[in-house]
Amino acid sequence: MCGIVGYVGSDNAKEIIIDGLKRLEYRGYDSAGVAVVQDGKILLKKHVGGIANLENLIGDDPMASGTGIGHTRWATHGAPSDVNAHPHLSADEQIAVVHNGIIENYVELRKMLTEQHGIRFRSETDSEVIAQLIGIHYEGNLEDAVYKAVAQMRGAYAISVIAADQPEKIVAVRKDAPLIAGLGKGCNFIASDIPALLKYVKEIYLIENNETVVLTPDSVKIYDDERNEVSRDVFHVTWDADAAEKEGYEHFMLKEIYEQPKGLHETISRRLNEDGTIKLDGISMTREDIEGFNKIYIVACGTAYHAGLVGKYIIEKLAKVPVEVDVASEFRYRDPYVDDKTLFIAISQSGETLDTLAALREAKRKGARVLSVVNVVGSSVARESDDVFYTWAGPEIAVASTKAYTTQLMCMYLIGLYMGYEKGTITREYYDQFIADLMDVSGKLEASLKNAGIIEGLSRMLYNKEQVFFIGRGLDSSVSYEGSLKLKEISYINSFAIAAGELKHGTIALIEPGTLVVTLATQDFLYEKMLSNIQEVKARGAHVLSIAKEGNTEIETHSNEVLYIPACRDEITPLLSVVPLQLFAYYVARERGCNIDKPKNLAKSVTVE
Ligand code: M6R
Repeated sequence: MCGIVGYVGSDNAKEIIIDGLKRLEYRGYDSAGVAVVQDGKILLKKHVGGIANLENLIGDDPMASGTGIGHTRWATHGAPSDVNAHPHLSADEQIAVVHNGIIENYVELRKMLTEQHGIRFRSETDSEVIAQLIGIHYEGNLEDAVYKAVAQMRGAYAISVIAADQPEKIVAVRKDAPLIAGLGKGCNFIASDIPALLKYVKEIYLIENNETVVLTPDSVKIYDDERNEVSRDVFHVTWDADAAEKEGYEHFMLKEIYEQPKGLHETISRRLNEDGTIKLDGISMTREDIEGFNKIYIVACGTAYHAGLVGKYIIEKLAKVPVEVDVASEFRYRDPYVDDKTLFIAISQSGETLDTLAALREAKRKGARVLSVVNVVGSSVARESDDVFYTWAGPEIAVASTKAYTTQLMCMYLIGLYMGYEKGTITREYYDQFIADLMDVSGKLEASLKNAGIIEGLSRMLYNKEQVFFIGRGLDSSVSYEGSLKLKEISYINSFAIAAGELKHGTIALIEPGTLVVTLATQDFLYEKMLSNIQEVKARGAHVLSIAKEGNTEIETHSNEVLYIPACRDEITPLLSVVPLQLFAYYVARERGCNIDKPKNLAKSVTVE
């Protein structure tokens, strides 16, 4: 949930670290800090709040040094404050550490350090124990001290460490939290995420679990947990530096909404053979494998879970196999029935969501075949899966997920079509037409984004609603969950989604005159049923904002406002209908003066339970 950047070389480390931290601020923005090695001492600056606060604190101080580490925090242990911010120092101030993750045995370690070594802790964090542990073990060899400390730690961590008397060295360790090393010329980098380094390097090493990296200006060496040096292939990053810039958009979220036509096109067009059939690159499933699955679990969190809801509908319909969708934090603890005939599909933008990763491991342990749909190449979920299907959305920086969701949906369609065609549960004609329709979506979306002004105008009228309901049936119901999540997470409006048919079984009690109800009515075969539900809320005075397909003017007589999506087959409306909901959430949040890219209490990647 936090971001790490480190630099060792001859340029000003502080400048590079601050620049990298700004690109990682989406990972955490409760506090930030930087430490550099300067004249045999550690120079430390840290401050509660965003990177701008840290910059103000640093002011004109050049912090001249070529070696340093920095961190942007999303608080777990200890409230956001100056002292709880990273880096943390050892008692003698010779060691500085930044940490992502959680040290599970920190209470016991803290007790031991206090009672046996007389250490007085400065912060309430679990992370400080790492600095103190390394501090007590340090006798001039930083790698030694780090190995000894790590042997005493339990939990998930990516750490980076510097020592006051080692002016050209960073030691970093990874266990269950992302870590990459960037390979420069006469300089090297460490970071939790690729966007931090895009401006500087395109060649990186993906660090594996239980590996230690030792960086100097001229070398990056990786060692396993027994201190054997390991070789690693260089990974070439294809994202360009602009991908992590706002490029004139007011917010990353808006930029990413507008990037959806491109993301969808990339995700499908790279997967078509010359004869128009789908090639599932990264997936080695044979027809026999597909026929052998008697059950599919789709497991994910948040927005990715909502993509799974659509996936269930599509895969069941096309491939005629039962699909269950679950949130990862529930799946992993409920002893689910999984065996070697189960296909487990994990969906994750970051590929680092701890609950999703843990659920994946549980499914694997029970014998399931694991397929992941992931955006970040080389991420933990991708690496631990049998097959990986990348979403090709490009880096998603805004905390509120948008282009990851639509590209995840596209992957669900491709997987469903592929499986259905291989199994013979759909005809070639149906398959070809479906693919052609999917190919058309990106153009349709591009055109419909031109109506953003209408949604902006609407949001000016509706931004001060205190609660909002989202209702729909079938696929519209799945999309309504995502519309509701988007609105609540960035505008802080109390919003709630429910299958329209369920409304009358309780929730309708909350509908009052003026309550905003967003109704999704894009499914032709459910339209009349949906109209009845619209009438139910209308009769209780609700303000009805409907989402419908172009050409359906009739719905205007039942709604206060209607937002239209381009006409298309019912099955693919989620790719189009979510977009006005994303834009509505965006403009409402902007109207309410919210911090759209960095909503309160949230972080982009949830690497803790
Ligand atoms: O990286 P992941 O896709 O695994 O993240 C899962 C959720 O944390 C994420 O989708 C979250 O719900 C979004 N911020 C919502 O916009």
